[in-house]
Amino acid sequence: MKNVLVTGGTGLLGREVVDQLIALNYEVTVLSSKKNSSVPDGVQLIKGDLASNSGLIEATENADIIIHCASNPKDTRSVDIKGTQNLLGAINRNKTLHFIYISIINVDKSNYEYYQTKIKVEQMIAASGIPFSVLRTTQFHNYVLTILKTFDKKDGVIAIPDGMHFQSIEVKEAATLLVDMAQREPVGLVRGIGGPELLRFEEMAKTYLNVLNRNDELKIKPIRNEEYDRYRSENNIWPTNSYGNITWEAFLRHNFVS
Ligand SMILES: NC(=O)c1ccc[n+]([C@@H]2O[C@H](COP(=O)([O-])OP(=O)(O)OC[C@H]3O[C@@H](n4cnc5c(N)ncnc54)[C@H](OP(=O)(O)O)[C@@H]3O)[C@@H](O)[C@H]2O)c1
Repeated sequence: MKNVLVTGGTGLLGREVVDQLIALNYEVTVLSSKKNSSVPDGVQLIKGDLASNSGLIEATENADIIIHCASNPKDTRSVDIKGTQNLLGAINRNKTLHFIYISIINVDKSNYEYYQTKIKVEQMIAASGIPFSVLRTTQFHNYVLTILKTFDKKDGVIAIPDGMHFQSIEVKEAATLLVDMAQREPVGLVRGIGGPELLRFEEMAKTYLNVLNRNDELKIKPIRNEEYDRYRSENNIWPTNSYGNITWEAFLRHNFVS
């Protein structure tokens, strides 16, 4: 069976990718920079660091396929940019025939620093000469939940910015898309896939309160900032290509009720 290296295989998305690869009987290797990371039985764990270029030859040498999920938004220059350069440099080109990368929709339409980083990484991969697939998805449900929680002071009132919307996708389903790619020939850039529903943030907040059985007052405020403006624009949705069955409500019920 083919060997797949998953960078970021200890992270939110990578863990799901690893579980799904194991279920399909792939040999799986995970790269982790931490000392005591744990991985599922049967997975080979390589201690290494993208930023300092350690352990990458060992991690990549047997990889038929690489799924690159590692990222550090707080240190993009070292981990995402330099780290991807190091990873591409370490690859055994006689062995690895497919490099898969997870990106975000419309990263090319924003000056946001993290998105600019994702573009640079996409470009490095395309220029590497290694056959590749890049999947740009919308935000994950978990990410929207993190945003929502910043407004939840648990004081009986939630005040959220007006006009925002999301087409978020469950991380398991994003992982399935990557694992599907691993089973196919490289396709280059897939510009956009979004989750199953396009929802106003206000509706998402109402569902959140409902699932948690709370009667907090929901206030909608015209809060201006660059990040919220991004979620008010068409740039964080991809209505022409939706995927998955796990709705926002189903995600919340699974996380808070089951
Ligand atoms: N969140 C969203 O809504 C969203 C939407 C679309 C795409 N994405 C993309 O999905 C990807 C994964 O996101 P996530 O939420 O799963 O991230 P995460 O949970 O923060 O995981 C990050 C992973 O990166 C690894 N990592 C960090 N620094 C490293 C280093 N120096 N060397 C080796 N590995 C390193 C970490 O492994 P160790 O700590 O074990 O080293 C960890 O497994 C990112 O590329 C992100 O841009 C996210």
